[in-house]
Amino acid sequence: MRRLALVTLLGWVAACGRAEAPPAATTRALTPGGALPTPAPAEDLDPDPDTVRVALRAAPRDDGSWAYNGQVPGPTIRARVGDTVVVELRNDLPNATTIHWHGMAVPAAMDGVPWMREPVAVGATFTYSFQVTEPGTFWYHPHFDTLHQVDLGLYGLFVVDDPGAPHADRELELVFDQPTEAARDEAALAYDHGLVREEVPWLVNGALAPTVTLTRGERVLVRILNASNGGYLDLVAPGMRQVGGDQGRLAALALPEHVVLAPGDRVELEWLGAGDGLTLSNRPYSAHGGSLELDPVPLVTVEVAGEGQDATPVAWTFSAQAPTPDPDYTDLVYVLTGADEAGTWMINGERFPDITVREVALGASVVIEVRNLSVTEHPFHLHGHAFEVLSVGGVPPLARRVEDTVNVRIREPVRLLLHATNPGDWMAHCHILPHADRGMMTVLRVGDGAR
Ligand code: C2O
Ligand code: CU
Repeated sequence: MRRLALVTLLGWVAACGRAEAPPAATTRALTPGGALPTPAPAEDLDPDPDTVRVALRAAPRDDGSWAYNGQVPGPTIRARVGDTVVVELRNDLPNATTIHWHGMAVPAAMDGVPWMREPVAVGATFTYSFQVTEPGTFWYHPHFDTLHQVDLGLYGLFVVDDPGAPHADRELELVFDQPTEAARDEAALAYDHGLVREEVPWLVNGALAPTVTLTRGERVLVRILNASNGGYLDLVAPGMRQVGGDQGRLAALALPEHVVLAPGDRVELEWLGAGDGLTLSNRPYSAHGGSLELDPVPLVTVEVAGEGQDATPVAWTFSAQAPTPDPDYTDLVYVLTGADEAGTWMINGERFPDITVREVALGASVVIEVRNLSVTEHPFHLHGHAFEVLSVGGVPPLARRVEDTVNVRIREPVRLLLHATNPGDWMAHCHILPHADRGMMTVLRVGDGAR
């Protein structure tokens, strides 16, 4: 019975998932240098302090983009650990859709993937509901016709406050995207051929190279997301203080010279209203092998205004946990292969949805090795769980590192430790959306198959 339902559904997904290629969003005229816009926050419609209830309507906008509640990026959802979150989605798009809660350990039925479950039909509504368990900077986006729908503007931040974080005078959200990638990529059939992508400007919260003014003395927590379909960011700024990553606060403060942010990745920085300000720039980076050795391109200009005392760094507390020692066995291997020319991308030689579901027991600790034998880098993302990065290219991280999206460089294996605590069928895929769309996606089953 289940098999039959699955087969029917997969046929339906294959038939309908990419059937209606939406029109490309018209490119808006962009003037660099305006003030940084802020994505409007989602309104909490529930008076209960422990419940966050949000209404999201997905619909096309006049400019050709697709948006939640008419805004790109979508409304920022905010909750606290322990809150119940209820999101009422209304689909007024010309295609079916879903919402996936990227990085959050939600129950499988709320994960927003069409695997074994139908997407939300045109004109229909669906209510997502789950409890928030971890602090961090997460995001949400469709997981059906993902390549087009994310590209057209359907994404937003989901912030879960860290109760132990020191007080910040304010928070900034920087959502980076290169719009209309899908249309361009399809026209050119050039899935990031080296320089091509670098000619496309990066927008932040929909603006080109904006300016933000900090008040002298204030401390700002900056939450950064790369919502691009396939573009990599390599962020540089003087004196970067990185306090968080994909899964909230780091185990130790990082003072990186640069931060590579693959599609789907997040980072949390602390900015101080001090000195003369700074420029956050991107060093052009190609998925075909890293830095292009070009001049950095300014993304955001940070000015500091006002008299008085410069802000000083906050005394953040970190867990100081060392990485888990690599147990030197491997339970699961994922081999990433494919090529631009062929336009096919595979995990273990299989293309979604023609895949073998690998299964692990609920409660098991599983060592996963992701090997990249292809010609581009791939951000490997697993649903329903975070994982610890044991090593990258054989080198363990300096401190315990927990992620949900990890970039896998060419021929540089990444070893992961997964505590399989969330039962269900979970997508594991590359977050370069054209790659996922063309097959680089599989399913890891946790538990006994009961859903
Ligand atoms: Cu951000 Cu499977 O997705
Ligand atoms: Cu990929």
